[in-house]
Amino acid sequence: MPENFFRLDGKVAVVTGGGQGIGEAISRRLAAAGAKVGVFDMNPEAANRVAAAVGGVPMVGDLTKEADLDRVFAEVVGKAGPVDVLVNNAGVASRKGRDVPVWESVREDWEYVMNINVTGLVLCCKAVLPGMIDRKYGRIVNVASIAGKEGNPKMAPYSASKAAVIALTKSLSKELVGKGDICVNSVSPAVIQTPILDQLDQAQIAMMLSKIPLGRTGRPAEVAALVHFLASAECSFTTGFCFDISGGRATY
Ligand SMILES: NC(=O)c1ccc[n+]([C@@H]2O[C@H](COP(=O)([O-])OP(=O)(O)OC[C@H]3O[C@@H](n4cnc5c(N)ncnc54)[C@H](O)[C@@H]3O)[C@@H](O)[C@H]2O)c1
Repeated sequence: MPENFFRLDGKVAVVTGGGQGIGEAISRRLAAAGAKVGVFDMNPEAANRVAAAVGGVPMVGDLTKEADLDRVFAEVVGKAGPVDVLVNNAGVASRKGRDVPVWESVREDWEYVMNINVTGLVLCCKAVLPGMIDRKYGRIVNVASIAGKEGNPKMAPYSASKAAVIALTKSLSKELVGKGDICVNSVSPAVIQTPILDQLDQAQIAMMLSKIPLGRTGRPAEVAALVHFLASAECSFTTGFCFDISGGRATY
């Protein structure tokens, strides 16, 4: 049994959407394990607050904008060193709180959610992968959702985006075979108590809760604990997998 299991001393970890909710819990957990954490968030107050709390590096920017990505990743590499761990946690549930059936959705509903949840996530991977491949080491953890496995009604753009995250995790993990000790996994939480729930109406939340066998919402710290393992060197023989954290809701 290693004495320092799951320690991240000397590692640099970037957490997107790290300024609140699940991302904040992940930032705090990885920092507590010894990582230098880049807290990437488009909300400057949130990024600065959490970075200060964990002794990390604030990365203020919009992950859908290449110019922001170039700047913030250069900042974190300059201040902390090359990125060993990327947690792609930032995501949105809908555009302007719109929860409508597919036939009432408009192009902008789809483009908004896919741009942040899928394209932005891929751009973040592209920002760190050349360095990980050069150094033959890396851990990427993508935060998907149970919605990506089941498809929640009136949340089609979100559900489709999270299914895309689960699938692209599998594609990327296989592309990296032979390129070193680089593992890419995803997690699929059910309802977790965070501000993202403010974007949903009460009926939607009640519907999701009714499906969870453990009968409660999850806590951000519980997601962070799973992400911590996947971000560690000890997660070395699992890649391309989607880990359930749904209080028993997932059936696969
Ligand atoms: N809360 C849940 O019940 C739940 C369930 C399943 C999956 N998830 C997923 O977990 C992740 C985190 O969820 P949360 O509830 O903590 O969300 P949240 O809304 O509380 O926080 C998201 C953070 O991401 C940041 N962000 C959003 N768009 C960004 C962008 N373009 N560039 C940079 N930062 C951006 C926001 O500023 C915010 O700080 C999301 O991917 C979400 O889909 C959440």
